[in-house]
Formats: sequence, C-alpha cells, structure tokens
Amino acid sequence: MVINLSEQHSLVSNWVAELRDTEIQTDRMRFRRNLERIGEIAAYEISKLLPWEEKEITTPLGSAPSKVLKEQPVLATILRAGLPLHQGLLNYFDRADNAFISAYRKHHRDGSFEISLDYISCPSLENRVVIIADPMLATGSSLVKTVQYLRDEGQPAEMHIVCAIACTVGVEFVHRIEPKVKIWCGAIDDELTAKGYIVPGLGDAGDLAYGTK
Ligand code: URA
Repeated sequence: MVINLSEQHSLVSNWVAELRDTEIQTDRMRFRRNLERIGEIAAYEISKLLPWEEKEITTPLGSAPSKVLKEQPVLATILRAGLPLHQGLLNYFDRADNAFISAYRKHHRDGSFEISLDYISCPSLENRVVIIADPMLATGSSLVKTVQYLRDEGQPAEMHIVCAIACTVGVEFVHRIEPKVKIWCGAIDDELTAKGYIVPGLGDAGDLAYGTK
C-alpha cells in the first residue's frame, strides 16, 4: 500500500514543491524544516492506524474518559538524509524508541553501485510498530536492505516507510520483497537516472539538508 500525503493535504504538496525548487532548496534550514513538517504530517496520519486504549484521566476538576496511544512506535532512520524526517516523526511520537542505521551507496567504476550498511543502533523490534524515515525512495535497494537488517532485531508487528518523494520502480521493488510494508510519501515520480536519482526529484537530499558536498 502506498499513500500519497499530497492527495490529502495541500500543505504537503506545497512543502514538496519547495523541496524541489532550485531557488528555495538552497536555504538549508527551510529544506530541513520542510522535511520535518512532512514527517509530522506522516506521524499524524500513521497514528490513526495504531492501537489506542481507553484511559480514565484525573483532571483538577474530575475524571475524563480519554483515548491514549497503547504503545509508542520505534522510529528508524537511515543516516544522514533521514534525520530531518525522523525529527518530524519524533516531534509527534515524542516518547518513541529510536533506531539509527548507516547505509550508503558504494559506487563502482562502471556506474553501478551496491548498498553498504555498517552501523546499527536499535532496540528490540519484536512485535513493535516500526516507522522508517528515508526522504528519497529511489531504487528501493537501501530500504529493502535496511528492512532485512532490522528484522534481525526481532519481527515487528507492522512496518511503515515515510519518504518525501517515492519513485514508482522503488515502490514496486519494496512491495515485491516486503508486500505488507505501508509507504507514506509526499509525491510519486516515475523516472530514475542510470545513477539511481529520482527525476524530476529534488537532487541529493542529504547534501541539500546538510551541505555535505
Ligand atoms: N537519494 C537522493 O538524495 N536523491 C535521489 O534522487 C535518490 C536518492
């Protein structure tokens, strides 16, 4: 299942437009904040699908029947580009546990690349709801590798992926290997370059967020 948040919220499409815009995306603080805001809206939408429980809350004037989240999710981020989206999710799931994974593309001379994962910090994921933040779902290979890596830490009850822009090929690849994962995105683009960049996309999300290049 893939959910395009722009179809439900005009503001998400506004923020995606700013992320893409070469005249606006050079403002790094705004770029990070726009990713963070997409993470916040995704958290709000995902929260509607999570288990809730009834709780009697004591107020200064009495007792209020309330609904509270049964359990906080685990927020997992692919370093470094996933960090602003992660922060947005964490702003809303403010007691969540967190996992960090370092994944990068190791480029070969012939233009091909492989995904290398070399760091993971993660609580047990057994029976937990896991939400993975990665702003650009391009080929899907780093996400699939990350999900497989995370499964070694226990079998989650459900998994969600949050991204700003997803590419059709990547969505299909992830769903072929992980059919039950729900993908939440701000836009869906159809093309990929030979180097695995999304077209029209927005460029390199990590570089734009942090000036790493
Ligand atoms: N990662 C990015 O930052 N941009 C893309 O287009 C694809 C992967």
